Amino acid sequence: MSEFTFEKHAQDGRARTGVISTPRGEIRTPAFMPVGTAATVKAMLPGSVRETGADILLGNTYHLMLRPTAERIAALGGLHKFMNWERPILTDSGGFQVMSLAGLRKLTEEGVTFKSHIDGSKHALTPERSMEIQALLGSDIVMCFDECPALPADRGRIAQSMELSMRWAARSKVAFGDRPGHALFGIQQGGLEEDLRAQSAEALREIGFDGYAVGGLAVGEGQEAMFGCLDYAPEQLPEDKPRYLMGVGKPDDIVGAVARGIDMMDCVLPSRSGRTGQAFTRHGVVNIRNARHLDDPRPLDEACGCPACQNYSRAYLHHVTRSKEIIGSMLMTWHNLRYYQDLMAGMREAIAAGSFESWQRAFHAGRAQGDI
Ligand code: GUN
Ligand code: ZN
Repeated sequence: MSEFTFEKHAQDGRARTGVISTPRGEIRTPAFMPVGTAATVKAMLPGSVRETGADILLGNTYHLMLRPTAERIAALGGLHKFMNWERPILTDSGGFQVMSLAGLRKLTEEGVTFKSHIDGSKHALTPERSMEIQALLGSDIVMCFDECPALPADRGRIAQSMELSMRWAARSKVAFGDRPGHALFGIQQGGLEEDLRAQSAEALREIGFDGYAVGGLAVGEGQEAMFGCLDYAPEQLPEDKPRYLMGVGKPDDIVGAVARGIDMMDCVLPSRSGRTGQAFTRHGVVNIRNARHLDDPRPLDEACGCPACQNYSRAYLHHVTRSKEIIGSMLMTWHNLRYYQDLMAGMREAIAAGSFESWQRAFHAGRAQGDI
């Protein structure tokens, strides 16, 4: 079985492009990972997700452990087979979702106990149990079990939480063991405090991981503060390993993160907002529910190759979204995922060509055209 490797092909400023190789296929970076929380990218068949250009999906320990359970998925042949996606899957470790979704949580040195948001039943997660669940799922890229406070939080709380996450990172590494072809990523914490981020990076480097995530951002701090942190955080992490910014973001967040040295990202935004009628286009956001689209024969985005733009008018997309027809969610999600993947492909090309700065100027100019 082949190894997990990261090869950087070009760098332009701080932006990098390259390829992560796994036994289940290659991941072109910078990469956007569509979110398939409950063993599905909502409203999309796996083959369609692949057609948008995705090389890898994200799955969630928290949701899958509650329903249908990791043991059941393992007995059925693993998550890839279960959901009919043969390419790489990265799974988040659960702690972050417990903090945002579960009821009645209790955090200790050992781990976290919580009540399910589905039926109120009681569960526990520890670094060891999270590694076990992610192994049962058959995840290709496993995330360390971590914890992160919502921002703003005081420095003492952020430091304590980061230190706990670093102890959990060490336990995650031991529990992960030696699994050729599978990768374990560490997660940097430390809020917006540069010295805490540096301490966290140092702790993770000492343990040693196959990749490194920047965690604890996009938790309410705003883009300016997030970019401020990304001006130093990625460079504190090893240069020769993939860097993953968790849970980000809007198209301009993604472009700014890549410009600051990030290689991988995930976000529910393109899929979730597609289902509510919000489309991302080269000219900015279009709310297809708006009455001005009632009679509009134009495609959503004339430059887009997706089925929504190739085969349907804005008027049709307006109609099916307003009528809550299932095809509305399908077409809008397909479009948004294609837009995000085209964005990543454009950045990869521009970085390889050494023209990322002018690409960024064109990106921002295209979005500043006003009413669309
Ligand atoms: N998703 C978004 N941010 C985070 C984070 O800090 N940790 C984890 N595990 N997942 C995330
Ligand atoms: Zn489209």
